[in-house]
Amino acid sequence: MTDVNAMRTQYYTASSLDGFLATPDDSLEWLFPLGDINETSYPEFIREVGALAMGSATYEWMLWHVVKSDQSGSWPYTQPTWVFSSRQLPGVPGADIRFVRGDVRPVHAQMQAAAAGRNVWLVGGGDLVGQFHDASLLDEIIVQVGSVTLGAGKPLLPRRITSPSLQLLSARRIGDGFAELHYRVPKA
Ligand SMILES: NC(=O)c1ccc[n+]([C@@H]2O[C@H](COP(=O)([O-])OP(=O)(O)OC[C@H]3O[C@@H](n4cnc5c(N)ncnc54)[C@H](OP(=O)(O)O)[C@@H]3O)[C@@H](O)[C@H]2O)c1
Repeated sequence: MTDVNAMRTQYYTASSLDGFLATPDDSLEWLFPLGDINETSYPEFIREVGALAMGSATYEWMLWHVVKSDQSGSWPYTQPTWVFSSRQLPGVPGADIRFVRGDVRPVHAQMQAAAAGRNVWLVGGGDLVGQFHDASLLDEIIVQVGSVTLGAGKPLLPRRITSPSLQLLSARRIGDGFAELHYRVPKA
């Protein structure tokens, strides 16, 4: 039987030092020169992921910059992915992508069942992760803080989390480009 208590719901992402996931026009051009993903915790993190969730802006970015730019047109994840949108969006042939809308709680239950003991990855954006936090479903935040500021853009996590504060579990330097911070989110 699956031990849902051992599974974690994790927000794993990169942000600028001033707390933005992307520029106002959804560019990530600032991110890629900062370091090599294989030097971060990503390879070990993704091995433990059993289900993913993302908002439509993140999905559309993936469609244009990953799927359509790849010669094979392939989706990069083997795990099932839930995409939140109020619109009808195209899928990717051969990929397990499930379009949903509204309350995150029933979707999270479906994700946990599909993950079968592995973790749930909240890819972003920030407000969608905030909706999971509002429902007390966010366990951890792992953020690679890039050595740049953007001044404006898509926020990392537009919520007030002050008391209890996040609990810092680790901080790791990744070259000159990133500080990787790992937090536990205490349940109020
Ligand atoms: N730096 C990184 O590592 C990183 C990580 C993740 C994302 N990103 C980037 O950051 C940006 C994030 O964009 P974003 O903040 O706009 O967030 P997003 O979560 O990707 O997209 C937001 C959209 O998702 C839909 N949505 C969210 N919650 C919903 C719900 N409960 N029910 C139905 N639809 C819902 C809505 O769009 P509709 O209903 O209109 O479809 C909403 O406008 C993107 O450019 C992405 O590529 C960067």
